[in-house]
Amino acid sequence: MSTVLVTGGAGFIGANFILTARNRQWFNVINLDKLTYASNLQNLAELQDDEGYYFIQGNIGNAELVGYLLKQYQPDAIINFAAESHVDRSILNPQEFIQTNVVGTFQLLEAARFYWQKLSTQRQEKFRFLHISTDEVYGSLTPKDPAFTEDTPYSPNSPYAASKAASDHFVRAYYHTYGLPTLTTNCSNNYGPRQFPEKLIPLIILNALDGKPLPIYGDGQNIRDWLYVIDHCEAVYLVLQQGKIGETYNVGGLNEQTNLIVVEKICAILDELVPQSGFSYSSLITLIKDRPGHDKRYAINCSKISQELGWNPQEDFDSGLSKTIRWYLHNSDWVNTVRSGNYQNWIEQNYGKS
Ligand code: NAD
Ligand code: DAU
Repeated sequence: MSTVLVTGGAGFIGANFILTARNRQWFNVINLDKLTYASNLQNLAELQDDEGYYFIQGNIGNAELVGYLLKQYQPDAIINFAAESHVDRSILNPQEFIQTNVVGTFQLLEAARFYWQKLSTQRQEKFRFLHISTDEVYGSLTPKDPAFTEDTPYSPNSPYAASKAASDHFVRAYYHTYGLPTLTTNCSNNYGPRQFPEKLIPLIILNALDGKPLPIYGDGQNIRDWLYVIDHCEAVYLVLQQGKIGETYNVGGLNEQTNLIVVEKICAILDELVPQSGFSYSSLITLIKDRPGHDKRYAINCSKISQELGWNPQEDFDSGLSKTIRWYLHNSDWVNTVRSGNYQNWIEQNYGKS
């Protein structure tokens, strides 16, 4: 079985990806993760006796460490999930986004290039560098605009989106300049188990269960395209296996929703699963001050990956949300761990003056 170096594998999408990869025996995994606030090794606890999985704590920006790992484990691919990923944090403190998303990705590309150049021709042809990016690089749509395609010009609006756009450009440049066999995926908003509760869906679930206000920015009419995380993991695997080198692939859920509808759906599911007499969770909905530069709408046209690779999202939004909510209800240890430490400071910093 081949070996893949996965970065950022202790975070939300990376952990779901590694669990799926190991359960389905896709390949062996070396997971390099710095273990920032957004990570949680509990995500991967079920792999502790798995001989096809190995964890290393470290920074993608540490070229010496990455070079050593590549030499030692001889992977056939690198999948780069590692990033600072929360837009609100990038607004309050952009520095770390530049360090990891831009400089870190650059250093990872450098290490990959030096490793790849020394491989045999046969292994060079097989090698892939798959970079996980976002639809936010394309900017914001009006309600009537067509969805983003792979040809939509980049127009990032937040420091997070700008840092991801910069990293995408470096990936592209390494393919065109050095021939490094790169692939990039630009996906929409993921949801599912193990997402850190700074992001909308888990934040709302946990606030509702605590009887706290459910904060919605602005008028709640901003639109996101929600993609179930396991659908995304399958798309990543398919692109790794069959994607054309140098290309980018959009991955979306074909599931545009206003934020208000998303929160109302969560409340309705909680009303059924954890009913409170004479009270609906929706009474906790609170419109608060808007996010600065808040993008109005994201929508992904995923006909390229659908037509070329045969991938389509499978999960229905109502059932995906219900699965997600049940996961949070059944994993209170996980919830308590991630909400200890600095989490309360973040909530105070971001919502304290709303
Ligand atoms: P996350 O914040 O949950 O996890 C990120 C992981 O990366 C964490 O485990 C963290 O410790 C690790 N990390 C951060 N800096 C690192 C560094 N310098 N070196 C090594 N590891 C580091 O993020 P996520 O939601 O799982 O997102 C994964 C990727 O997918 C990111 O690149 C993100 O930009 C992209 N993405 C996410 C979404 C989404 O909806 N969550 C949508 C589109 C794209
Ligand atoms: O589109 C892909 C992107 O989706 C990823 O690249 C990012 O890593 C990921 O964080 C996500 O970005 P968003 O900003 O869209 O996700 P978030 O969950 O933070 O917010 C979703 C929407 O909900 C957005 O319109 C802002 C709004 N929101 C968010 C929070 C945290 C609220 O109304 N209230 C909140 O408290």
